[in-house]
Amino acid sequence: MPKRSPLKNKRILVGVTGSVAAYKAVELVRRLKDEEADVRVIMTSASLNFITPLSLELASGTKPFTGLWEEPLAHVNLASWAELFIIAPATANTIGKLANGTADDLLSACFLAWHGSTLIVPAMNSGMYSHQAFRKNLDYLKSIGITEITPESGVLACGTEGIGRMAGIEKIIDAARNLVTPKDFLGQTVLVTAGPTREPLDPVRFISNRSSGKMGFALARAAAARGAKVILVSGPTSLTPPPGIEKIIKVETAGQMKKAVMHEAASSLLLIMAAAPADYTPDEFSPEKIAKSKRYDLKLKATYDILLEVLKLKRRPFTVGFAAETGPLFENALQKLRKKDLDLIIFNDVTKEGAGFDCGTNQVSIIGRDAGREDVPIMEKEDLAHLILDRILALGNWS
Ligand code: CTP
Repeated sequence: MPKRSPLKNKRILVGVTGSVAAYKAVELVRRLKDEEADVRVIMTSASLNFITPLSLELASGTKPFTGLWEEPLAHVNLASWAELFIIAPATANTIGKLANGTADDLLSACFLAWHGSTLIVPAMNSGMYSHQAFRKNLDYLKSIGITEITPESGVLACGTEGIGRMAGIEKIIDAARNLVTPKDFLGQTVLVTAGPTREPLDPVRFISNRSSGKMGFALARAAAARGAKVILVSGPTSLTPPPGIEKIIKVETAGQMKKAVMHEAASSLLLIMAAAPADYTPDEFSPEKIAKSKRYDLKLKATYDILLEVLKLKRRPFTVGFAAETGPLFENALQKLRKKDLDLIIFNDVTKEGAGFDCGTNQVSIIGRDAGREDVPIMEKEDLAHLILDRILALGNWS
């Protein structure tokens, strides 16, 4: 399924400088084209020692610019054309020029004419990377709002080991996506819950459910990319915490999830309850492993309904719930919205293909307080997360 990339149709200028990592720029440009970005390339004369313009022409679909005098106004025209400038790999020499306002080649002149978002991706020997003279230049660029994607450690072209290898392409793509994503949740505290809970029976057994946490993690990631201070309360999952979130609170049981949510909810502006906390927990916990017998009657007691608890707060966040149903039971979702006094509820029929647990896609309907329903087509959870945030913002009364 094609992803809705924030880089789609974005005009991106890629500057390539004279590092042995210059060949990696071909892959970077290719990946940007996969994301359907419009890419133009500037190559410094030093980069021509490592890579031919033809490789980058084939990857980008346009002839790279290689000199200041080829087209007299190229530096100004490219600067006004671009929406994002990525310099990868960036040598110590180029970084020095950019930091000092030197404009003696197309890349550095264009940088001076440019005043938008810039990513620099250094690649050099570790001694050069840690040299005070270089650090001063790099720190200055960062102080004026330029984003550095730090190099990785490993064996370098000079044969030594240390920091200096150009960051991975996917890291650069992620940072580029992040930079072009509108920061429409800037500074807002967003509390997201994700995943299942585990209710222990004894030290080795527990009751849980099939939630994977993917939808909640996608929401946390999307909100963080849009500038929110995200607090993620997560039950046990196998997922890696999304980049850029403020904090992750890992919990095990529904009781622990309730405690974490109540602690954070009052100071959050938005709560998205994407988790599937257990509705029941064993009546008793056996500190020893329960021995096998012919029959075992499991006694359960109800857990707290976390959203009903949140309802009791004096100052409540704008609250969004999820309703996982096994059929087109929209009425159930609406009843949950009313009972829990939610601002929005996201209905999903987990029996539908591509909408169930543990898959990368979801198909939902978004239901509002007025019972209005938007049936959203099947899409990647990452894309759906952004769409849900768009709808929350559109309601306009949540802050
Ligand atoms: N929820 C909650 N606390 C619980 C159980 C669920 O806050 N102990 C939240 C879920 O995170 C979700 C919403 O309530 O946002 C609806 O959850 P769902 O499991 O669909 O419904 P329940 O209210 O648990 O009702 P039922 O299990 O009968 O469908």
